[in-house]
Amino acid sequence: MEYSSDSSITWGSFEQREQHRLSLFAQTWSQCVPKVFEDVPRYYRPGNIVASLGLWELWVWQFVRTVDLQPQYKVLDVCAGTNSVGIRLLKKQPDISVTAVDRSKEMQEHGAKDAAKAGLHIDSVIHDVTTLPFPDNSFDVITLQAASRHLQLDKVLPEIHRVLKPGGWFYHCDMLKPTNRFLEWFYLRYLRVSLALTALIFGSSEASRSCGGYFVEAIHHFYTPEELSSILKLIGFKQVEGKKSIWGGMVGFHRAQKPE
Ligand SMILES: C[S@@+](CC[C@H](N)C(=O)[O-])C[C@H]1O[C@@H](n2cnc3c(N)ncnc32)[C@H](O)[C@@H]1O
Repeated sequence: MEYSSDSSITWGSFEQREQHRLSLFAQTWSQCVPKVFEDVPRYYRPGNIVASLGLWELWVWQFVRTVDLQPQYKVLDVCAGTNSVGIRLLKKQPDISVTAVDRSKEMQEHGAKDAAKAGLHIDSVIHDVTTLPFPDNSFDVITLQAASRHLQLDKVLPEIHRVLKPGGWFYHCDMLKPTNRFLEWFYLRYLRVSLALTALIFGSSEASRSCGGYFVEAIHHFYTPEELSSILKLIGFKQVEGKKSIWGGMVGFHRAQKPE
């Protein structure tokens, strides 16, 4: 199902929301989240499968299916983590080059091993994505999956727009704030329980356990699918398309094109 934009989002209200998210999460983003991702690689995939009741793989495949790839394309996967997106993109179209950018060395080391096991290569750049260390107009396609809740979007989205070639496409997928309040209420309670259970099953670190509440709060203060569509237009993308997932917008898929 396609959904429309939320016209109440202006550049001013977006900046206010971002300032609010920053005031709530700046410390968690700079200290706690990096520690969590030191520990997470060893159980990232099975942990997500358990927490999502098996739907995780479907979610990643659904995302990769939406990405239109042509031979010779230069692709950037932002917050690439374990390279689960980049590996699938290369399997779908082997005649592309994929660059991964993420600040976690541990996630990227795990991702490089997974790529090598599949006989694939992904260039890795360890960097905070608040600024992207690439020239303007560098990539045909940019992907960002399962990470934007942890990012200052008024910094990162303009950077993505800058390094995308004119006419290039940005593909986004993440757990979003459901538009329906009742759905959000159940979703956040489910998440609290499933994250605690996953931490118990996989013996996660103290840092990951202490961050559990943050992962739920981050969604509560994040954007609905409609709001994200508006934000992408504010950044300068045209042809912004969004599809609600089968879970009522809990996971949202967007794609947006940089004007020629
Ligand atoms: C849920 S994980 C990985 C998602 C990835 N698509 C995957 O399938 O493995 C989120 C990633 O975002 C990265 N991340 C979070 N904030 C970041 C930042 N400011 N700069 C760079 N990477 C960041 C983390 O290091 C982590 O690897």
